[in-house]
Amino acid sequence: SHRIMLGPLVAAIDQGTSSTRFLVFNSKTAELLSHHQVEIKQSFPKEGWVEEDPKEILQSVYECMERTCEKLTQLNIDISNIKAIGVTNQRETTLVWDKETGEPLYNAIVWLDLRTQSTVERLINKTPGRNKNHLKHKTGLPISTYFSAVKLRWLMDNVDEVREAVVCHRAMFGTVDSWLIWCLTGGKKGGVHCTDVTNASRTMLFNIHTMDWDPELCKYFGIPMEILPRVRSSSEIYGLMKICSSRKSGALSGIPISGCLGDQSAALVGQMCFQDGQAKNTYGTGCFLLRNTGPKPVMSDHGLLTTVAYKLGRDKPACYALEGSVAIAGAVVRWLQDNLGIIGSSEELEKLAASVGTSYGCYFVPAFSGLYAPYWEPSARGIICGLTQFTNKSHLAFAALEAVCFQTREILDAMNQDSGIPLTQLQVDGGMTSNRLLMQLQADILCIPVVKPSMPETTALGAAMAAGAAEGVSVWSLSPEDLSEVTSEKFEPQINPEESEFRYARWKKAVQKSMNWET
Ligand code: G3P
Repeated sequence: SHRIMLGPLVAAIDQGTSSTRFLVFNSKTAELLSHHQVEIKQSFPKEGWVEEDPKEILQSVYECMERTCEKLTQLNIDISNIKAIGVTNQRETTLVWDKETGEPLYNAIVWLDLRTQSTVERLINKTPGRNKNHLKHKTGLPISTYFSAVKLRWLMDNVDEVREAVVCHRAMFGTVDSWLIWCLTGGKKGGVHCTDVTNASRTMLFNIHTMDWDPELCKYFGIPMEILPRVRSSSEIYGLMKICSSRKSGALSGIPISGCLGDQSAALVGQMCFQDGQAKNTYGTGCFLLRNTGPKPVMSDHGLLTTVAYKLGRDKPACYALEGSVAIAGAVVRWLQDNLGIIGSSEELEKLAASVGTSYGCYFVPAFSGLYAPYWEPSARGIICGLTQFTNKSHLAFAALEAVCFQTREILDAMNQDSGIPLTQLQVDGGMTSNRLLMQLQADILCIPVVKPSMPETTALGAAMAAGAAEGVSVWSLSPEDLSEVTSEKFEPQINPEESEFRYARWKKAVQKSMNWET
């Protein structure tokens, strides 16, 4: 049968904010052979707080691996063909656990969480000239609630268990990648405590020039360096899977975990944006536009972040990216569904919005977690404006989709201004790109074509590629020619630029109204 032609397989764990996935690819063709997805619960214990359960996150990974292995077996594919596993994850989300018991000491504080707003304001007030970019020369980041250091500081100040574990030298800090790799390589029985350069670059404790933890930054936030994971490249063998044989995923034991990238970096790799100037925009819980700037970090003058894009091997050079981060994209769909109940599923949102085809002057700024790029304004809050007696839920649905597009327009403009070379089309991926109305709207609002690959799981593909290309594994060479068969779909702008500009100007007015709300 055609199964005989299967080359080595490569897998990825994709642990996002809203869901976890395990995916298996054919390394010869990048074809997705099997996958499974599980939703993750988010809790909102107080206004502005967002937490997830580290054990549920781990459990969801096991469940996805088990179900995917079952599906492979049904397809007659031998699990032993999987040669490497990559990890990709929601970035910045902060965990602390006890290395002796293996138990988390608090819930994971999700990147979107706002509990550190007052700490952040206090830190900024202490800097010369109240400058939120005070640490940018080392980190590439503004001081913000978004990054891990302030969350970790909060845990040490407010959770007794964390404080005690730090004092007793039992605490381990990590982002989701570190937590998963530690657990999957043995946990309290010899698990590997590491992270990769892309995840490290989101903590605010990492110096993006020296490519290591920075003692001065750690001192600034009062973080003991011994609790930090070891920083590795994005493509090397970190350790081997160690899974109890009683689990159905036990067959994966012994496979090297050899790729690790924050999800936005992984998507950049999966979209094969290896050249200086190439960019992608991913529509997940949030929305993240990254543009590769090559081997030198470029500092933004327009509110973008400078971040490590990838380092694909211990001896390979690091590549950097400029990033425009939008906190709320897919999250607005879940909000319309769970909090307002006006839709039952994301597919319904597209139908509802398409039924009117306009917001009738209604603008919705979903600044639920303040505003990220290019404003970095934690005191902003969501606003819906331009309502009349005529406005109904379909218009609101349309305005929600438009909000995602306008936010992307803002970061694309900033990107074009910073680089001086405007993008002539936008490569996109992520869950929301299955919404065709959204894609058309995006092209209309950007006035450039939007290009979507036919295989939407580019984040997982990027992590699998990094894992397969690691020294000591090497089932996959990271050359774009290998994957030239990737097909795509293009959405061309259909409205005239004047109309697009008019709507965008209105959006900007609405954004101004959302500012300085919660000060
Ligand atoms: O920085 C947060 C980002 O990594 C989360 O990605 O896909 O869960 O929205 P996603």
